[in-house]
Amino acid sequence: MVSMCEWDESPLAIQHAIVDWDGQDRGIALAGDRGVGKTMGMALMMVGLAGAELDFSFENAHTLFKLFQTFTDEARERQKMLTGCGHLFIDDLGTEYAKDWNLGEFYELVNRRELLRLPTTITSNLSIDFWEQQGLQWSRIIDRLRGQAMDWIEIGGKSMRAQ
Ligand SMILES: Nc1ncnc2c1ncn2[C@@H]1O[C@H](COP(=O)(O)OP(=O)(O)O)[C@@H](O)[C@H]1O
Ligand SMILES: [Mg+2]
Repeated sequence: MVSMCEWDESPLAIQHAIVDWDGQDRGIALAGDRGVGKTMGMALMMVGLAGAELDFSFENAHTLFKLFQTFTDEARERQKMLTGCGHLFIDDLGTEYAKDWNLGEFYELVNRRELLRLPTTITSNLSIDFWEQQGLQWSRIIDRLRGQAMDWIEIGGKSMRAQ
């Protein structure tokens, strides 16, 4: 399901999605401009999981893509851990670091998580329409993430930071 809302409804839309969220089996995708409350929404979800003593990990997308290019044992361990953790939160998925040569590894990660039925939650300042027009590899990634997401929320318009 993809829900759309305007910027002045964004805190409520995000909060409603989180209240309805079952907390375990599915992720949520939060898309919208900078400052609409995506990271805050994600933080609330993590607080919920921590309270229930459930396993989760958080990684900024930029750091995650850097990890794919780091060839140390430590980086490999971290990658393995992120692939197998109970719920993975990826903040700020964008295009600047999403080069073709490390998209394959990102696809592997989301695909493996889907096969293992492990939820992944993402935030992005880019819309689902945008992602779907970024070529085959991105459509495959978005397809896996959509299969995982209980809800895909797109928030239009202005930032709360600017208010
Ligand atoms: N539900 C909310 N109610 C009030 N302020 C909020 C809410 N969610 C986020 N904010 C505030 O809005 C600003 C932007 O939130 P943030 O989650 O960082 O946005 P994003 O990740 O979409 O860029 C922050 O200063 C944050 O504290
Ligand atoms: Mg953010």
